[in-house]
Amino acid sequence: MSHQIAPSILNSNFLRLHDVITMLNNSEADLIHLDIMDGVFVPNLSFGFPVISQINAIAEKPLDVHLMTVKPERYLERYKEAGADILTVHYEACDDLEKTLKEITALGMKASVSLKPATSVEVLRPFLAYLDMVLIMTVEPGYGGQSFMEESYERIKTLRRMISEAGSGTLIEVDGGVGSQNLVQLREAGVDVFVIGTSIFRAEDPAAMIRELKQM
Ligand code: DX5
Ligand code: ZN
Repeated sequence: MSHQIAPSILNSNFLRLHDVITMLNNSEADLIHLDIMDGVFVPNLSFGFPVISQINAIAEKPLDVHLMTVKPERYLERYKEAGADILTVHYEACDDLEKTLKEITALGMKASVSLKPATSVEVLRPFLAYLDMVLIMTVEPGYGGQSFMEESYERIKTLRRMISEAGSGTLIEVDGGVGSQNLVQLREAGVDVFVIGTSIFRAEDPAAMIRELKQM
């Protein structure tokens, strides 16, 4: 399977959200990445259930919902109702990760976990069987537009090895500072899904940029 592009709308024009989602529907984007921030797990706030639901009402691509929130297990059903197709919780935010992942799956969503840059990928070994995807943060979570952390390549390669040893079919997604400048090298390291915010929404023609990123 070729790589997937998941545009992050965090830095798009929220006054024009309808146009943004329509553009993504008509683009080669595979997923729509939504960043949920609670001002506690990360030093920033974004948006919540009403916005996710309204996006879901018009989106024609699966919603890839990235929770940067404490106690994500409290709201799993609400995210399902709002329209999440893939639900990513942070490893650092979960008291009982296995239970949380099983609940996400039981609700009919794809289960995914994200690691902050300082968290070792080794912690995921016991959980790979329950994981549809792992989201490797390649910047500190909280804001778009930051610089990619070069030390991420080693982490991705280690995780790729762990996944093939486990035979779990888990996808690897990266998020933060990704664009045409590093996509090919990241794919060679083992990445399947690319979350891309600034590089798409700062481009003069975002749909053309998505096509370019998809065809790399
Ligand atoms: C950051 C978010 C990202 C962000 C990526 O915490 O998880 O999804 O929107 O933006 P860029 O591509 O600008 O780094
Ligand atoms: Zn994200």
